[in-house]
Amino acid sequence: MICLGIESTAHTLGIGIIDNKKIIANEKKMLFGKGIHPRKTADHHACVFDEILTAALNKAEVSLKDIDRVAFSQGPGIGPCLRVSSVGARAIGLMYDKPVFGVNHCVAHIEISKFMTGLKDPLIVYVSGGNTQIIVREGIHYSVLGETLDIGIGNMLDNFAREINENGAREIELLAKSGKEYVQLPYSVKGMDMTFTGLQTDAIKKINRIRKEDLCFSLQETAYSMICEAAERALALTKKRSVVVCGGVAQNKRLQEMLKTMADDWKCKFGVAANEFNADNGAMIAYVGSIMKKEKRLAIKNCIPIQKYRTDQFTF
Ligand code: FE2
Repeated sequence: MICLGIESTAHTLGIGIIDNKKIIANEKKMLFGKGIHPRKTADHHACVFDEILTAALNKAEVSLKDIDRVAFSQGPGIGPCLRVSSVGARAIGLMYDKPVFGVNHCVAHIEISKFMTGLKDPLIVYVSGGNTQIIVREGIHYSVLGETLDIGIGNMLDNFAREINENGAREIELLAKSGKEYVQLPYSVKGMDMTFTGLQTDAIKKINRIRKEDLCFSLQETAYSMICEAAERALALTKKRSVVVCGGVAQNKRLQEMLKTMADDWKCKFGVAANEFNADNGAMIAYVGSIMKKEKRLAIKNCIPIQKYRTDQFTF
C-alpha cells in the first residue's frame, strides 16, 4: 500500500511517500527565520506545495493515481500552517478519489522513532518546540504521564537564543560545547511535570553578567536534567525496558547522552531515530497514515485542522 503524507504544523512543509513500510520519498522545505510568523509561514507552505509534491512524486517514481491513501498532519500546530496540509489532502482526496486520514503530529514523531529504532514498547520522551511530554502506549492510544506545564523546551531554547542574537536551539548546542563553568539556574520538576518559563526568565536576566558559552552550557544542563528526572521517575513507575527520545530537540547530542546514561543505569535500551525523522517531515505522517485502520478514513468535510490536538486523543 502506498501512502502519501503531508506535514505542515510549523516551519516545515514536508511530503513523504511510503510503500509497504519502505520510505520512498521524504522531501521538505523549511522557512528559516527567528520565530514563526503564522501567516507568512502558511504562505510559504502554500507557495512551495506544488514544488515539494512534484519532488516527492519524482523521487518515489509514482504518480498521484498510484497513491492508495493520503495522510495529513491534523494537529497540534499553528492554525494557518495546519490549514495548508488539510487543504492539500482534501484536494488530492477529491481530485483522485483517495481516502484521507488525519494524523496526530506527536504520534507521528513517536511511531516513526519506534519504527526506526525497532523498540516496540518504550518509555517515550517527546521534546520539541511546542511539546515536552513523557509518554507510554496504553492499548489503542498513548497516555501522557508528565509534560511541560507552560512552554515546550524547544520554544524556551529558541526564545533564549533570540535574546543572545542567535537563531535557535542548534546554536545554543554549539555554544554550550565551549562552556566550562556551571551557573545556578531555576530547576523545576513537579512529579513528572516540568516548567521552563522560570528557567528562561532567569537565564535571560543573566545574559550581561555571564559568559555566553557558560550560560548556554548551564541552560542545557539544567533543562535536560529536568527532562531526565521526569523520565527516570516514569521509568521507575512503568518499568519499561527501553527509552526512546523523539521530536526536534531529540537531535541534541547532549540530551541523547544524558538520557542514554539514565537508561543504562536502569539496564534499559536507548533509541533515537536519525535527525531526518526527528525534524518535522512528511514520511512520519505517511507512516502513521499507512498503519491506521481503514475505518479511520475522514469524510472530506472533517479534513480540518485540530489546533490543540493532544497526543492522548489520537487512536489508530
Ligand atoms: Fe515536530
